[in-house]
Amino acid sequence: MGLDPSHVFVGNGSDEVLAHAFQAFFGHGEAVLFADVTYSFYKVYCGLYSLPYRLVPLDGGMRVGVDDYTGPCGGIVLANPNAPTGMALDLAEIRRLLERHPDRVVLVDEAYVDFGAQSAASLVPDYPNLLVVQTFSKSRALAGLRVGFAFGQPELIEGLTRIKDSFNSYPLDRLAQAGAQASVEDEAWLKQCVEQVIASRTQLSAGLEALGFDVLPSCANFVYTRHPNREAVELAARLREKAIIVRHLKGERTEAWLRITVGTDGQCQALLDALREILHRNS
Ligand SMILES: Cc1ncc(COP(=O)(O)O)c(C=O)c1O
Repeated sequence: MGLDPSHVFVGNGSDEVLAHAFQAFFGHGEAVLFADVTYSFYKVYCGLYSLPYRLVPLDGGMRVGVDDYTGPCGGIVLANPNAPTGMALDLAEIRRLLERHPDRVVLVDEAYVDFGAQSAASLVPDYPNLLVVQTFSKSRALAGLRVGFAFGQPELIEGLTRIKDSFNSYPLDRLAQAGAQASVEDEAWLKQCVEQVIASRTQLSAGLEALGFDVLPSCANFVYTRHPNREAVELAARLREKAIIVRHLKGERTEAWLRITVGTDGQCQALLDALREILHRNS
């Protein structure tokens, strides 16, 4: 069985789709589970809808451990690939999670999936508890168009539609529809863009490793990296002085790390040159 329009929901960016999904499916008086290091908006939606949640720590290698998602819960959210780590689970692990929680919705947020992870969309026909959320904002470079979508069995799509219709029945404007359709029809362009990002990511990761950084294996359009004996916050500040912005997230688990977006090859090279100079200057 494949997917047809009854398996698809479309909204204004995947943030809106996620917000509707949290409101529609999560809670039951039990905690929603998601990783302690993941997309920051999951907590925001739980706050907005007064949903209890429990943070499940990533393992020592900053990976999501499916076996850590045990016990009763009000639903599960996984960013796959995860942000900001860039690391992905394979489909066998996602199946395990779905089978362990057959009565709860497992939401897989695939914002970055096109950059090298396996999509769980192919599992939708087998699992009524699976909702897969994707976006046009990343690999398709259309963040300003605000188009996101979800795949799920018709009962879940119906739940999302009910929330949407109670909020704003006609959310997606004509321009966004035309742009999204043009993007879907141009698979060759998507493939070319994604291949370029992956090639640049490989080079960027190698360049960082050559400078002594640890780099997590990324399936996204950014890399997560740390230097064994330099403060990440300090590196980010020095880079900013050179008009290069990288992301440092405060907090015990993320203090040591930088999230660096894969830019053009020229931008990646400028970043590596700047880091080399900063490391050299302070050595
Ligand atoms: C993991 C993840 N999910 C969802 C989104 C939301 O993207 P959008 O609302 O533009 O589709 C983002 C954006 O940064 C993200 O990182």
